[in-house]
Amino acid sequence: MNLTLRIWRQQGPQDKGRMVSYQVTDVSPDMSFLEMLDVLNERLILEGEEPVAFDHDCREGICGACSMVINGTPHGPQKMTTTCQLHMRTFSDGDTIDIEPWRAKAFPVIKDLVVNRGAFDKIIQAGGYISAPTGSAPEAHATPVPKADADAAFEAAECIGCGACVAACPNGSAMLFTAAKITHLGLMPQGQPERDSRVLDMVAAHDEAGFGGCTNAGECTPACPKGIPLATIGRLNRDFLAASRKRSGETATAG
Ligand code: SF4
Ligand code: FES
Repeated sequence: MNLTLRIWRQQGPQDKGRMVSYQVTDVSPDMSFLEMLDVLNERLILEGEEPVAFDHDCREGICGACSMVINGTPHGPQKMTTTCQLHMRTFSDGDTIDIEPWRAKAFPVIKDLVVNRGAFDKIIQAGGYISAPTGSAPEAHATPVPKADADAAFEAAECIGCGACVAACPNGSAMLFTAAKITHLGLMPQGQPERDSRVLDMVAAHDEAGFGGCTNAGECTPACPKGIPLATIGRLNRDFLAASRKRSGETATAG
């Protein structure tokens, strides 16, 4: 396959950035999207040009690093697929492919396609710890968990923190990510002692980091490579409301 790539090039956070066109030839349909970019970068290096900076790590769809917008869609055209798992057979010979970084206020561009997703770490850190007895491993059946809860918690825990939900959201909201993190602990018995403080603190960290509010646009779930359902945000809202009421009740009593 021969392709035209139009790639966002930006020297650093202060640079305005621009789209630059590259021709790539002899692309195998069996290459992954990142392997195709590797081939382009090897050529650029040989020609004495600067390679395109992009994030990647596992290349197995589990780390969430390979963040890029392909033809206007975070992670590209294939549903439930990270960029590293996307193959060139998804495209056709002669195609022009636009490749851009995540665009969101809370994810500033570091260089080219690499953005700073440290704001996600701040939300996670605000969630803190769970109270659990330390020492030897507890007996596996000591804390029964209903199967439906275990399955739903596991589904939420599949979030890989890639940020595609933020990139897809017209408000740049990270509510799907935050809701996934709150849900996977909030459904488990081990997550109950800090359940209220966790949701209040994580939502506060979300807002402080500059993410927008959720207005139910519904763009996040279709972009999510792990299919985290929109209902997860509804669960966060219910938890948030219950915790806020309890906290304001405590304040009123203390006052
Ligand atoms: S909710 Fe989905 S899109 Fe958002 S960070 Fe998690 S895996 Fe990525
Ligand atoms: S490189 Fe790890 S999910 Fe794509």
